[in-house]
Amino acid sequence: MGESRCFSCSVRQAQQQTPPPKSPQGRPQTTHFGFETISEALKEQRVGAVFSSVASSYDSMNDFMSLGIHRLWKDHFVRNLNPGRNPLTSSSSQEQGWNILDIAGGTGDIAFRMLDHASTINHDAHTKVTVADINPEMLTEGKKRALQTPYARSPRLKFVEANAEKLDMIPSNSIDLYTVAFGIRNFTHKEAALKEAFRVLKPGGVFACLEFSKVNNPLFDAVYQRWSFGAIPLIGQLVAGDRDSYQYLVESIARFPSQTEFSDMIKDAGFLVPGKGYEDLTNGIAAIHKGVKPAEKSL
Ligand SMILES: C[S@@+](CC[C@H](N)C(=O)[O-])C[C@H]1O[C@@H](n2cnc3c(N)ncnc32)[C@H](O)[C@@H]1O
Repeated sequence: MGESRCFSCSVRQAQQQTPPPKSPQGRPQTTHFGFETISEALKEQRVGAVFSSVASSYDSMNDFMSLGIHRLWKDHFVRNLNPGRNPLTSSSSQEQGWNILDIAGGTGDIAFRMLDHASTINHDAHTKVTVADINPEMLTEGKKRALQTPYARSPRLKFVEANAEKLDMIPSNSIDLYTVAFGIRNFTHKEAALKEAFRVLKPGGVFACLEFSKVNNPLFDAVYQRWSFGAIPLIGQLVAGDRDSYQYLVESIARFPSQTEFSDMIKDAGFLVPGKGYEDLTNGIAAIHKGVKPAEKSL
C-alpha cells in the first residue's frame, strides 16, 4: 500500500494523540467505524480519509463490487421518484421545476440522472440539483464528470461542500426532494442528518434514501456475505491498492440498521412513511426508504 493510501496509519496516529470527548455523564462518546468502536470525534476524519482515498477509483470500483448492479438501482431510484414538473400535467403554473438536494452526492451519479429524467421525461428545463458532500475530493470527481454532461455550466447543477448533519447554508422549507444514496451509513449522527433533512424540506417534500440493507433470504445472504467479506476488500486491494477502505465499506454495510429499524428512525425524525416505508432491491442487498414531511409540521 502506497503512503498516500495509508489513511489508517495517519488517523490511528491522530487517535492516539486525541483523548475522546466525554458525554455529559462523563463517559467517552463512541461510535462505530465499520466493526471498530472509536471516538465520535474521529469518525468524520476516518470516513473522510476513506473517501479521499477511493475518490479517483470510486466509479469503477462500484462497478466491480456490484457487478454493475448499482447502476440499475440508481436508475430505478430516480425513475421511481419521477423528478421534475411536467408543464403539460402540472396543476401549478407559477412554480418552475423542483429544487433537489442530493446529499453525499459524491461523484454526481444521482444528480445527473435526476436532471436527465426531469429534462427528457418531464420536459422540465428548470429543475435544479445541489450536490452536497463533505469530501472535497469526491466533489472534484463529480465536477470533472459534470463536464461530460449538458449541465456543466448550467445554473441547474451546483456542488457544495457540506456536512449532512449541519446544513446551515440551506434555508428551512426550501427543498422539494432530498436524496441520499449510499451515504447515510457513513454519517456519525444519522438522527441529526434526518432532522436536517426534515428542516430543509418544504411541507409535502420527500426524503428518499437508497442504501445497502439487510438481505431477506438466508441462503442468498450466505453467498452475499462471502462475496462482501471475501472478495470486495481483495478487489479493493488489487484494483485500487486500498484494502482498508473497502474493508470499511463492507463493515459499514453490515453495521447499518435493518429496513424496519431505519424506517422507524425516519418516522422519529417527524416524517410520514408511506406503506411499509421501504422497497427491497435485489433481495434486500439495497433498499429505498421514503418519508414525506407532513404539511402541518413546517418549522
Ligand atoms: C459511497 S459514497 C456515495 C456517493 C454517491 N451518492 C453514489 O451513490 O455513488 C458516500 C459519500 O458520502 C459522503 N459523506 C460521508 N459522510 C458525510 C457527511 N457527514 N455529510 C455529507 N457527505 C458525507 C462521502 O464523502 C461520500 O462521497
